[in-house]
Amino acid sequence: MKTKTILTTLALLALMSCGQNQPAENPTGPREIDPAEIKENPIALFNDHWALVTVGVPDDLNTMTISWGSLGELWNKPVVTVYVSSSRHTHAFMEKNDHFTLSFFPPEQREALQYLGTHSGRDGDKIQESGLTLEFLESGLPTFKEADMVIEARKLYGAPFDREALAEEAAAFYAPGQMGIQTVYIGEIEHVWVRDRTGE
Ligand SMILES: Cc1cc2nc3c(=O)[nH]c(=O)nc-3n(C[C@H](O)[C@H](O)[C@H](O)COP(=O)(O)O)c2cc1C
Repeated sequence: MKTKTILTTLALLALMSCGQNQPAENPTGPREIDPAEIKENPIALFNDHWALVTVGVPDDLNTMTISWGSLGELWNKPVVTVYVSSSRHTHAFMEKNDHFTLSFFPPEQREALQYLGTHSGRDGDKIQESGLTLEFLESGLPTFKEADMVIEARKLYGAPFDREALAEEAAAFYAPGQMGIQTVYIGEIEHVWVRDRTGE
């Protein structure tokens, strides 16, 4: 009887110490998925849900809302493409950094995205004003706690549209008085993080 109790206690202690070596369960923390596992339709993802393109280092970064973008395959890599007008404060950050993130949000953050898409980082701390919470991924890249999907991308290409090569209806977007010509940035998707909200 005594031996049985000792054995049971030892088994329990072994079980408990095993648990201590496991990574802490964090149901709200981000989990990595393969780019091919992104389930959302890319057209709906950009056009309906919008996203934030965020770029820079902790003490020198900026973010802005986008609704034009593409997800696909190029040079045998999964890629994301964004189009940033030369008039955006974000443009300078895209030029001087090798990486950027794309963060997608649940519908309740629409107002914050609207704010970040109508205010410039040149004029003040728009991130703080938006109410979103800046956070940094393991790689050090910036994103937001409220995002439910984050794509980390490494710049592979960046060049402005060639006006001469644009069809008339596309060129109209860059006519005098409209936005500055957009730079096309193609990034290799290095990581995709999703956050399950259930249980929060
Ligand atoms: C819904 C929405 C989508 C937008 N999409 C783009 C886009 O794809 N490319 C772009 O250059 N600007 C886009 N903008 C405009 C920028 O987000 C906006 O000019 C922003 O204030 C720029 O901020 P910044 O000066 O801090 O970079 C969009 C704005 C909104 C509201």
